[in-house]
Parts: sequence; C-alpha cells; structure tokens
Amino acid sequence: MSLDISAIRKEFPILDQKINGKPLIYFDNAATAQRPLQVIEKMDEFSLLTNANIHRATHTLANKTTEAFESARETVRNYVNAQEVAEVIFTHGTTESINLVAFSFGEAFINQGDEVVVTEMEHHANIVPWQMMCQRRGAILKAIPFADNGELCTDQFDSIVTDKTKIIAITHVSNTLGTVNPIAAIISKAHERNIPVLIDGAQGVPHFRIDVQALDCDFYAFSGHKIYGPTGIGVLYGKRKWLDQMPPFMGGGEMIDRVTLSRTTYNQLPYKFEAGTPNYVGAIGLASAIQFVQNLDHQELTIYENQFLTAATLKLKQIEGLKIYGEAPQKAGVVSFNIDGIHPFDLGTLLDQLGIAVRTGRLCADPVMDHFGVENMVRASFSFYNTFDEIDVFYKALIRLKAMF
Ligand code: ALA
Repeated sequence: MSLDISAIRKEFPILDQKINGKPLIYFDNAATAQRPLQVIEKMDEFSLLTNANIHRATHTLANKTTEAFESARETVRNYVNAQEVAEVIFTHGTTESINLVAFSFGEAFINQGDEVVVTEMEHHANIVPWQMMCQRRGAILKAIPFADNGELCTDQFDSIVTDKTKIIAITHVSNTLGTVNPIAAIISKAHERNIPVLIDGAQGVPHFRIDVQALDCDFYAFSGHKIYGPTGIGVLYGKRKWLDQMPPFMGGGEMIDRVTLSRTTYNQLPYKFEAGTPNYVGAIGLASAIQFVQNLDHQELTIYENQFLTAATLKLKQIEGLKIYGEAPQKAGVVSFNIDGIHPFDLGTLLDQLGIAVRTGRLCADPVMDHFGVENMVRASFSFYNTFDEIDVFYKALIRLKAMF
C-alpha cells in the first residue's frame, strides 16, 4: 500500500497535541473531520488579503472574491460530477440543504394525503424537516425500518412506498450504525415509479467519491466540515428539472431578479436559493478541502478505512459486555457501542481524560436509540489519518475503565 499515513498526519497539525497529558486520539470524525493545513492557510490568506462581498460590486477585491466563490462552485460541480454549476447550491450545511428541499419541494409538489418516505436510521436532520413539511401540507411521513444488524429492510420498500409517495429521503451512510445503504438500487426502484430521491450525504462524502449523474439521485446534500473543510458551508446538488419548479426557500438579497413593493421576480439558478451574503470564505475552504482529497489515492484510502474498521471492530468485540450497534455487511467508518454497567457519558468523560475523543449521547438519531431500547451510545468514528496503534490504545483504555467500574 502506498498510503503514507504519517505524511498525511503532518498535514493535520491539530492531531499532534496532548489532551490531558496524553497524545490526542481523535475518534470523533463523523461529528467533524479535522482540516488540513492547506484549507486553513487558504482561508486565512483569503481573509487577510481579498475579503469582499460577492456579486455586488465592481471593485477589484469584490471581483476576486466573486471569481474565487464561483470557481469553488465549479470545483464542487466537478467533484460530484453535476451536469452544470446551476445545480450546485451553497448552503450552510447538510441540515440547511435538506430543509431547503423539504420546504421548497413540499410547497411545489406535496398536497393533503401525499406521503414522504424516510428510514428509521436517519439523522434528525433528515426526519424533522420532512415532519415539519408534512404537518404544514397535511402529508404523511413513513419510514423504512432497519434490522437489528443495521441493514435497511429493503424488502419492505414495496409495501411502504405507494402511489402516494412523492419523495424518498435516505441517508447514504448512517451516522450511528455506519450502514452503507444501497442507494443506487433504491434510486432506480424509486425512479421506476417516477419518485425523486434525496440522499443525505453528510456521512457519505467522507468515504465515497460521489457521481450524481451515475447515481441519478435527484438531490444530494452534504457538509464541508465532514470532508475536511470548514463548518458553516454545505452543498445541495439538485437536478435542474426539480429546482426550476421549486419556489425559493428564503427571501433576501441575491435571490431576486426585480423587487417592487407589490411583487418580486426571482433570480436564475443557483442564486434563487442563495439568499443573503453566502459563506464565501467557507466555500473557498471547501474547494481547497476537495482538492486535498482529490490528491489522495481514493482506492488506497478505501482499503485503509475498511481494514481499519474491521480491526477496530474485532478488537472491541474482545471486550466482555461490549455491545456494538450496527454490523451491516456494507459499513463505513463508525462503531457505536455500550459497555454493560458503564454510563456512556462516564465512558466519554473518562476516555477524554486519556486523550481519546469520542462522541456520546443520542447521536442525533433518537429512532435508532428507540430501536435498540437505549438512551445513549458511545461512538468512535474514524478517518484515514487514524493509526492502527490508536486502536490498541483505545482498546487498552476501555479495558482499564471497565475494570474501574
Ligand atoms: N451529524 C453529526 C454527528 O453525527 C454531528 O455527530
């Protein structure tokens, strides 16, 4: 394998520090991934030398910023292989992207008695916006369940998806179970019935190269900070045929064509959905993060990440009383678990004392907690900059903490 993990780690200086006197082990990548130097430097340089609002003035700095922002859009378009830049909308993150579709698609296409289908393993961001829209429009929200091993019950697709289903919204990768859903198959089945599909790609983009045309998804939402970019910037890819028919999500500057006090006409795509001053520094940082990822060998990364997940899973399974939630055959990047007799919050706090950062709590996925009848979980989530030695340290720390209880 040609992947040089120690060279990659040098690009992430934040990893090289002690937390509570111990070398940091950062296993909270599904919450937010760290940023390589080039992203930080690019954003700093931009803020220091170029900052000006975009699309609004003709002075040099404004022109440079506008150019960099639109070039970032082209970087994203190219990365996800969208047909045109007009289909790439910058948002504040996955949550806003999904809210945008839930609101605007709902306004255009959802009526009393219509149905929207999600899954039982969704992050709250791919449940609540649809619930809100369904309440507004008098529609019904349904969910495809998952089996105890974390696999989606795709055999129930035909009974849950009906002639009344107007859209399906599904996560690419579960933030809690790590399940990689068969989204291509689901999209193709949905399209047989002319139902569009939105993919929540927040946990998909860190692990997969996305080709929206090959997938043929109707919408794909993701966040910059999960893919080694900054927070506060995200993307909504949408097919023009839908976006053109959807009304704006928010009103304000930039999204308009002409405003009078009695009526407003709207701007063309993608600006129709980008009200207000966008996070242009964030977009420029995201483009730099994408360039960073593009320069890595994706095949090697995938092999490394899969080997890492398998090794971490096998090691954790050696711990008596440790239960892993979600062991679907197709899985990426996360291990959520509990240890008998130890409250997840205690575990998280004590691990932190040993320099190990994990996430604890309900993981923004209450229905997953309900499925397993637990209040909280501990989640370790991995990236290509984590080392196999860190798995050993993590394992020994858990053994030590277990002995304390
Ligand atoms: N969605 C992020 C997570 O799963 C915050 O942790």
